[in-house]
Amino acid sequence: MKELEAKILQADTLEALEKVRVELFGKKGVLAVEFAKMKDVPGPEKKAFAEGLNTTKTFLQESFDARYETLKSEAIHAALKSEAIDVSLYGEFAQKGALHPVMQTMDKIIDYFVALNFAVQSGPMVEDDFHNFEALNLPKHHPARDMQDTFYFKDGGLLRTHTSPVQIRTMMQTKPPIRMIAPGTVFRRDYDITHTPMFHQVEGLVVDAKGKVSFANLKSILTDFLQYMFGEVEVRFRPSFFPFTEPSAEVDISCIFCQGEGCRVCSHTGWLEVLGCGIVDPNVFKAVGYEEVSGYAFGLGVERFAMLMHKIPDLRSLFEGDIRLLEQFR
Ligand code: DAH
Repeated sequence: MKELEAKILQADTLEALEKVRVELFGKKGVLAVEFAKMKDVPGPEKKAFAEGLNTTKTFLQESFDARYETLKSEAIHAALKSEAIDVSLYGEFAQKGALHPVMQTMDKIIDYFVALNFAVQSGPMVEDDFHNFEALNLPKHHPARDMQDTFYFKDGGLLRTHTSPVQIRTMMQTKPPIRMIAPGTVFRRDYDITHTPMFHQVEGLVVDAKGKVSFANLKSILTDFLQYMFGEVEVRFRPSFFPFTEPSAEVDISCIFCQGEGCRVCSHTGWLEVLGCGIVDPNVFKAVGYEEVSGYAFGLGVERFAMLMHKIPDLRSLFEGDIRLLEQFR
């Protein structure tokens, strides 16, 4: 019996134990052979013989079951160990895109004016002379047209040089009052550290009955807007000229690089020019057939805002698609 028990205890895998099971308990196994001997045992001894055999069988069965449990649980632990996943290991990173910094800036600008109930308008990038120039009080041969280097098509069409033509289109389609902004792409023949041939502007226009819209309104909304964009800056309005506004102003903020002390970025003036604006020129209202109204307008370059807000030195880098620049705006 000890020998048989040793076979069970020596089996070190479930497969080996299975072989032992067949050898001991199988149809032709050791126990079956022993039980077969019953018939040859003389009558009076049969009972004792059978009892002895049953005790052996029970003992071996218990020993087998215990061994089976041990090996089974060892096998499960081994499997768990070999299939284990190290959740602390780095996986493969999914590439994640993000809005371009110019669009992020555009969205921030739009958010401000939408909150103040300005409608967002758009117009075509391929414009005609009337909407881009004529109706904006820039007649042919007007010297102010030199301010804008225009891409022309052979048929006289052109790539819009500013978003101001959307003012004209909106006024010709709707009756006052108007409260709109026009974000969009514009084009000029320009290329240097602060200019690219394609860039973005946001135009603004407010029109209401005569006497209802004043320069004071314009000043207050733009001051608040610029402080929303740039934080605690000083805002100054400087007289200027635009054909479509009279009076006109350019708006400066105190230099965010040197806090107005004077540095290279602000050309030692302490101020940064950020937008143009003014009271809509009567000739513009005449061109769209508006009478007895008053209004203000403004226009700004989105790239310039993005450059200043993120301290980007060369505007062209915004369009080179260098992933190292773009990754910083995720
Ligand atoms: N259209 C001008 C430009 O492209 C920007 C501008 C200035 C728009 C003054 C306006 C304005 O509406 O009032 O430089």
